[in-house]
Amino acid sequence: MRPVWSDWLPHLAAWPERLRVWLDQQKPSAGGGLVVSGRQASPEPGGETAVVAGYHQSVMADEVAHFLAPGPNKLYLDGTLGGGGHSERLLRAGASVLGLDQDLEAIDYARQRLSEHEDRVAFIHMNFRDYPSLLREVGLEKELDGILLDLGVSSWQLDTAERGFSFSKDGPLDMRMDGTRGRTAADLLAEASEEELRRIFREYGEEPLAHRVAGAIVRRRAAAPFRTTGDLATFVEEVCGRRSGKHPATRVFQALRMEVNDELGALRAALEELPKWLKAGGRVAIITFHSLEDRVVKQYFSEHSRPLLDRPEWPGPRPNPECYFRLVVRKGLAPSAEEIAANPRARSARLRVAERLPHHEEAAQKIAE
Ligand SMILES: C[S@@+](CC[C@H](N)C(=O)[O-])C[C@H]1O[C@@H](n2cnc3c(N)ncnc32)[C@H](O)[C@@H]1O
Repeated sequence: MRPVWSDWLPHLAAWPERLRVWLDQQKPSAGGGLVVSGRQASPEPGGETAVVAGYHQSVMADEVAHFLAPGPNKLYLDGTLGGGGHSERLLRAGASVLGLDQDLEAIDYARQRLSEHEDRVAFIHMNFRDYPSLLREVGLEKELDGILLDLGVSSWQLDTAERGFSFSKDGPLDMRMDGTRGRTAADLLAEASEEELRRIFREYGEEPLAHRVAGAIVRRRAAAPFRTTGDLATFVEEVCGRRSGKHPATRVFQALRMEVNDELGALRAALEELPKWLKAGGRVAIITFHSLEDRVVKQYFSEHSRPLLDRPEWPGPRPNPECYFRLVVRKGLAPSAEEIAANPRARSARLRVAERLPHHEEAAQKIAE
């Protein structure tokens, strides 16, 4: 199915057509591996995931809608479409959405959920790290009113044993959000050196026993490779013992997932390009679920919202040529107690929002005056 574009956004009349042409060129048959969701949906509405909240319950949806302020003739990029809950809020307000997800199941589910808005939404199977190539092709420089990244995995991904994300559900050790490419967690555990595994567990899992776990994995895999989540979870429990309320494999699973999907790499790449695509006054909202991600976002916004730079060797502060944003929320916003009670998975969420300043040279000039 193709996105159907009506005569919205008259000042941008050409880009929906350019998007269609570009998407046509990217179809797998043309070697691009990109799909605008032409497949039968795996999680079928009316089937197991008919209840929308059963696919994924959107986190901080009211806050996101408030800060992104959607309305008619506004255009948003949702880089993490998931179950489509956040996009639905934008679409219901009359806005248009370019919806990206690297998971085909998410694309298919969202496409069906959002079918009544199909004249204002495109579904694109793509890693959000690559969104600049899409926007460049379609000619949307400084045209976006907002960008949303709701990071991590959806409840559907986490709860589906076959996807291999969960230590509490036995399934193949996969963990790829994009099941069409890349190496699985099982591949990684089979191929990575002990040193590499140690780094992954320490860096991405902040696992204090990284050294012990990596060594034990390398010794064990020589005899029997790790193929299932259940096997790995039991093994890590045996190696580390029970330490706190958390399952001992929690950190190892988080670390593997982050490495398999290069989550921090994708986030950094996406952040670097933000200023180019947002119009002045456009906003970016990012929801993170653990401190490593949140640190990256916080640092990026802090570096690019500081109007002045100062160094001991300088006679005085100078304008920051890379001051692109104004912080809309100063600290990462947490979900309300009511939301956490209704959806415990929201508890670690932090929302950060920033607004694009006028083009940075103008902003820097203004400060200098
Ligand atoms: C937390 S869910 C998003 C839920 C969604 N906002 C909603 O309201 O239903 C995260 C989604 O982002 C996708 N995702 C994570 N990292 C991605 C990336 N680098 N590129 C594209 N999609 C990504 C996952 O596949 C998953 O479907």
